[in-house]
Amino acid sequence: MSINKAVFVKSSMSVSECPVEKYPEYAFIGRSNVGKSSLINTLTNQKELAKTSATPGKTQMINHFLIDNKWNLVDLPGYGFAKAGKGELYEFNEMILQYIEKRRTLRHLFVLVDIRHAPQANDIEFMAWLMRHEISFSLIFTKADKISKAQIQKAVHQYQKEMLTSLSAMPQYFITSSLQKMGKEMVVEFIEKMNRG
Ligand code: GTP
Ligand code: MG
Repeated sequence: MSINKAVFVKSSMSVSECPVEKYPEYAFIGRSNVGKSSLINTLTNQKELAKTSATPGKTQMINHFLIDNKWNLVDLPGYGFAKAGKGELYEFNEMILQYIEKRRTLRHLFVLVDIRHAPQANDIEFMAWLMRHEISFSLIFTKADKISKAQIQKAVHQYQKEMLTSLSAMPQYFITSSLQKMGKEMVVEFIEKMNRG
């Protein structure tokens, strides 16, 4: 299963500006710099569909991409990022929360975490919030190319332990690397399955 066509639709500053609610959509969220935009490019086999940067805070709006004329991928701004100069702590910005709460065509949220980092308080808090709001989500570990196979296993176990303690459940998870295109088929198949069901 793979994606044939991916087209940029629109960047929106608020949920009310988003495209009409016509297609099921899947959004990518997580801390700034975790690799959301890169993963969207990998999934769609494109280099620059979503804008990426080594500097955190690249994605500032809600970006819709139409996939195979059937469903949307949505690239969201990162959270947990203090914007330089403004002294402004984004954390969970209102735009993102409104989008998640109000967007009726949102089918599933992928929460991305960097596999090299121990579970972070704001990621755990965010996932607890998703559970309380009964939002369908799963976990995507990114940048798996940066560590060894043994370290990957260790990192996943550490997460499982933390999630079972703080959230009493470990969501479905995927291990990915945009650099190596690892985990790509699994994520696309998961989405296709949700589209069918
Ligand atoms: P914001 O838009 O700022 O929230 O960031 P983002 O989550 O969209 O991250 P982005 O995709 O822009 O990637 C951030 C940096 O991480 C870039 O320098 C990417 O090249 C790098 N990166 C992303 N994915 C991977 C990966 O799988 N492996 C490696 N090694 N680097 C990656
Ligand atoms: Mg981005």
